[in-house]
Amino acid sequence: MATRSLLLLCLCLCLFASRLCSSQEEEQLAAGGYRVARVAVDEGGRRLRAEAAAATGGVSSTGDVQRLAVYARLETDSRLRVRITDADHPRWEVPQDILPRPAPEDVLHDAPPASSTPLQGSRVLSATGSDLVLTVHASPFRFTVSRRSTGDVLFDTAPGLVFRDKYLEVTSALPAGRASLYGLGEQTKRSFRLRHNDTFTLWNADIGAAYVDVNLYGSHPFYMDVRPPGTAHGVLLLSSNGMDVLYGGSYLTYKVIGGVLDFYFFAGPSPLAVVDQYTQLIGRPAPMPYWSFGFHQCRYGYLNVSDLERVVAGYAKARIPLEVMWTDIDYMDGFKDFTLDRVNFTAAELRPFVDRLHRNAQKYVLILDPGIRIDATYGTFVRGMQQDIFLKRNGTNFLGNVWPGDVYFPDFMHPRSAEFWAREISLFRRTIPVDGLWIDMNEISNFYNPEPMNALDDPPYRINNHGDHRPINNKTVPASAVHYGGVTEYDAHNLFGLLEARATHRALLRDTGRRPFVLSRSTFVGSGRYTAHWTGDNAATWGDLRYSINTMLSFGLFGMPMIGADICGFNNNTTEELCRRWIQLGAFYPFSRDHSAIFTVRRELYLWPSVAASARKALGLRYQLLPYFYTLMYEAHTTGAPIARPLFFSYPQDVATYGVDRQFLLGRGVLVSPVLEPGATTVNAYFPAGRWFSLYDYSLTVATKTGQHVTLPAPADTVNVHVAGGTILPLQQSALTTSRARRTAFHLLVALAEDGTASGDLFLDDGESPEMGGRSDWSLVKFSCATGSDGAIKVRSEVVHNSYAQSRTLVISKVVLMGHRSPAAPKKLTVHVNGAEVDASSPAGTRYQNAGGLGGV
Ligand code: NOJ
Repeated sequence: MATRSLLLLCLCLCLFASRLCSSQEEEQLAAGGYRVARVAVDEGGRRLRAEAAAATGGVSSTGDVQRLAVYARLETDSRLRVRITDADHPRWEVPQDILPRPAPEDVLHDAPPASSTPLQGSRVLSATGSDLVLTVHASPFRFTVSRRSTGDVLFDTAPGLVFRDKYLEVTSALPAGRASLYGLGEQTKRSFRLRHNDTFTLWNADIGAAYVDVNLYGSHPFYMDVRPPGTAHGVLLLSSNGMDVLYGGSYLTYKVIGGVLDFYFFAGPSPLAVVDQYTQLIGRPAPMPYWSFGFHQCRYGYLNVSDLERVVAGYAKARIPLEVMWTDIDYMDGFKDFTLDRVNFTAAELRPFVDRLHRNAQKYVLILDPGIRIDATYGTFVRGMQQDIFLKRNGTNFLGNVWPGDVYFPDFMHPRSAEFWAREISLFRRTIPVDGLWIDMNEISNFYNPEPMNALDDPPYRINNHGDHRPINNKTVPASAVHYGGVTEYDAHNLFGLLEARATHRALLRDTGRRPFVLSRSTFVGSGRYTAHWTGDNAATWGDLRYSINTMLSFGLFGMPMIGADICGFNNNTTEELCRRWIQLGAFYPFSRDHSAIFTVRRELYLWPSVAASARKALGLRYQLLPYFYTLMYEAHTTGAPIARPLFFSYPQDVATYGVDRQFLLGRGVLVSPVLEPGATTVNAYFPAGRWFSLYDYSLTVATKTGQHVTLPAPADTVNVHVAGGTILPLQQSALTTSRARRTAFHLLVALAEDGTASGDLFLDDGESPEMGGRSDWSLVKFSCATGSDGAIKVRSEVVHNSYAQSRTLVISKVVLMGHRSPAAPKKLTVHVNGAEVDASSPAGTRYQNAGGLGGV
């Protein structure tokens, strides 16, 4: 008893002491404040430069930067950049070359304009054509970004800006009742919409996705703010430094441990416009090969090549689609990259296996880790040493420890590293011609805990690393490590995954001449240009099944539409019911892969009859939808639109959609409403205004004028998938591989809106040319449908681009109309192709079928 009270007392004291500590620290850190002295705005009203002096004057004991330079520019009509840095000393900034169009030099190193004038009150930066208005207030210095058309204040900084060498703090007010925020990752969250009084820590770490509310593998300091009646804008703080972002509902505070304050504001006003504008800056999502939309099977712990063979055969026997077989670190010799286990994964066995996969139009993907084992007999290591491309600390190569034991890490900031990596990949592909690469552990994960060496390892402000303020060196490369050119890990830490993905993507492109497929665990702003992502080490729990939707939707906002979670759960033993419900959801992840941890029960989809039945049904629908998925990939690549989207993307004016995160849309109009609880046989789904048709039996499920919650039956083998009236879906037939599915005839599914119209697109190319669109061969067909006042229905197709020769021989063998008004067949159905009417009843033309509750079949 006494011991227990003592323990309790100690605990209280500790808590009190830590609180005291953190409040002292907060006080110390949060003085700050600046006054603008002079300002200049150029004639076009697109650029502003101001100088602000620390309000305290003189050299402050707390280390405030004395003179700030504020550069603002309306880079486009819908993008405003506000960059605040030390006017007298250069500071670390995210390298411009990670952006597709680096900003012109003059933006970064603007000479003080001769015409600058003293500022009293405030100064406005606005330009005709732009909805964004910046107001710079002189004393104390603060700035406001507002929307000209509505007067709405989007971002409104508080006076006490703090700018020190290792601590920057800025707060913006938010209209608590009106703003719904999304983004700021990577974290596993219980809800997609950010909750008030939450902290978002950004510091890439090997922390499993099963941990909620803590910093995980990637950093994306971007959020979207959606406000009634459906107006959206986006905000990026382009910083690779560690940070905490506190969201209090009525405010947002950034606490950043270095770099500069480089804000970008995206005007929207629709959610789609925001991601378009955001990905215009950070780079459009990489096109993914057609095959990567097939189903993938992986496991950590496959025993040998025969084991892989059995799995492939298991899928074939169960008639479940399998496109890509993966192998984890098990294939390596002593976990060394670019080597093969001498007993279980010999080239003599693995190569014929991969050749067989290829003959069957299946693919093979292998994992790579960044740590290169220190071993003088290991070619990759020797070549790395010769090239001297490893990360340094204190003048020598930094020693880490991962699966292979002691390792050095390639420094992807080194100009020779990409070439080194590309050569290793190319050499290895001569033995095992992998179709894609999976880059893991690239936060960087380090099994050693490096001791602090200097102030970088333990900065004055401790971000909430791991949810318990762990040192930033925890289980990673130390902040005092040094990259090429003297760049410290402290500044560049969050960039490693991005740079490795860029090098891997380019290596594959060069070696194969085809569109690369890369899957990276660690990501940063712009990673979508090079790689897909999965949510990392989740657990086989119902919670993680549900949260996977939040992470998937967040990555859509981050410009990374090719995203999925480990189906059936990675850690822990899964159950038949969980796995069944997981494939029902996972079949509609843009990236659909079953993966599991070593020493857990196997979870290939054919192992339980009920899971296999669900897999056939759900993946069967996915494969029918492949032309739609692929068209969405094209849309993502050209406009940044996510493939899997929150409902408010299509219904921003419907505030009831802002909190929906148990359902999601594929593209504009396919709604997935999965079961996320054990034992459930129904789903409570929200349907925004309009008509919704089941994609299984084409019946009209809901017609609502205002949006409506509906309890849907969800028997064991069913996931509810609906299509919105107004949508035309191009479908093909399901098959065991995507290439076989691609050889089947098209069906056109026309779901009429209330007014009798519908539209949709179809993108076609060979699925593997490096470019998607652009200079490669491709075709784009636009379908539309209208109903005349006499009930006559016209379905039109217009080929708006037509350089993919094979598209000329494609046949639409069936048009299915859903929801036309007449009880029997429509009075007249005509099908127009490029303006000319075709015979809809000829065998070579289309067959008419009317499905749906409004008409009967
Ligand atoms: C960690 C990854 O997140 C996981 O997917 C993989 O199986 C293991 N590393 C082993 O490589």
